[in-house]
Amino acid sequence: MARIEFPPAFRWGASTASYQIEGGWREDEKGESIWDRFSHTPGRIKNGDTGDIACDSYHRFEDDIALLQEMNLSSYRFSIAWPRIQPSGRGKANSKGLDYYGRLTDALLGAGIRPFPTLYHWDLPQALEDAGGWPHRDTAGRFTDYAEIMISALGDRISDWIIFNEPAVFTALGYYLGTHAPGRSSLEDLLRASHTVNLAQGQAFAAMKATRSDSFIGTAHSMSSCEPAGDKEADLQAAERWHGLSNLLFLEPALNGKYPDIFPDGPPLDEMGFQDGDMEQIRAPMDFVGINLYSRTRVTAQSGGPLNIGAVPVPVENDDSSSITDIGWEVWPDALYDMLMRITNDYDRPIIEVTENGCAYNDSPDHQGVIQDSRRTRFFQGYLEAVARAISDGADVRGYHAWSLLDNFEWAEGYGQRFGLSWVDFKTGQRTLKESGRWYGTLAAENGFST
Ligand code: FCB
Repeated sequence: MARIEFPPAFRWGASTASYQIEGGWREDEKGESIWDRFSHTPGRIKNGDTGDIACDSYHRFEDDIALLQEMNLSSYRFSIAWPRIQPSGRGKANSKGLDYYGRLTDALLGAGIRPFPTLYHWDLPQALEDAGGWPHRDTAGRFTDYAEIMISALGDRISDWIIFNEPAVFTALGYYLGTHAPGRSSLEDLLRASHTVNLAQGQAFAAMKATRSDSFIGTAHSMSSCEPAGDKEADLQAAERWHGLSNLLFLEPALNGKYPDIFPDGPPLDEMGFQDGDMEQIRAPMDFVGINLYSRTRVTAQSGGPLNIGAVPVPVENDDSSSITDIGWEVWPDALYDMLMRITNDYDRPIIEVTENGCAYNDSPDHQGVIQDSRRTRFFQGYLEAVARAISDGADVRGYHAWSLLDNFEWAEGYGQRFGLSWVDFKTGQRTLKESGRWYGTLAAENGFST
């Protein structure tokens, strides 16, 4: 038996996102978001599911906090729905929206839990999408106004903030692949959206620091270790380019003031709508790097490929079915170790927060109402062993947030994929801690576990 230990002040947490849990989609003057519109469009979401009610956390956030307490957690990553604050994405703040997040924040602080909000976890006000969405440069300014509203309203009680959730994912799936809101499929839109989001990130960071210089601000990046699919040198180089595209497109510009060096003829600045002086606004000395990680990516060299970088990911080939979660993602704990070390080595040992990591297993309550999800516990053991190893090898990881506190609306998958440490009965809204949640609670109390 081995004992895995974590540093004394390590933070144990769980994550959620507004559209995935809140419901109350048009309560208290909330405006429509692109996810409201997308999920109400027939054929977009499996089973016709929507986030109209979801886990009803808009009314039940106290139940959510009780679960965090039951698991001895000290950090809660949630997100703020922009259209609750500015229903049309611009103008005066809606006091009822501010009041909801104020009450949530106070209740967390009262329970001794760090509120760790994300400003943007994908629910853009529909009115801004109608005006052009993320490909439209003006959206960066609108987002910065919203970030200022939030830090002015809650900066006295919240010090730690996440600007964006997974910018590489919401730009690619929303504007290029069309599988997420707003469902557009255009390379030009993807390039412009990527640049606007980089601008928004830099501008919001500067504005927030101007209001509260002592705040601790970063972004939660989707990351996946990129491995060559074959043993050829060309595959190795392709994997490096894919790493630059998928992991660094919103990190390298902020930290080093340039787009990743992966394009054969340099970054397509004209197509991105780049203007003189933009990099000065994009560059931002982030206080931490947030990492969301689920698995690895295997990459092969192929001429062309997305953005012409000569690299494409290849599908998972894993004969061991116990290594595949119910959503089809591969269990590969070394991916987390590899990314933590890569970011540590390449960016001069930044502070890192693991902002998401978890798995979909659809185990349901047994006849006694117990949710025996031992595969989820094993998943966490494997990935947490990888985190502990990275810390002992020099990574400055300060916290870990399991995705997710609750089973919830899993985007285009609807309610069919359950990622929660807690089971949610979507008919009644009732929450029950799963066995993995009990295990996670003991780990948090002891700051370590035995394998
Ligand atoms: C991430 C998202 C999060 C959740 C997990 C499973 O890409 O940030 O909202 O859906 O995947």
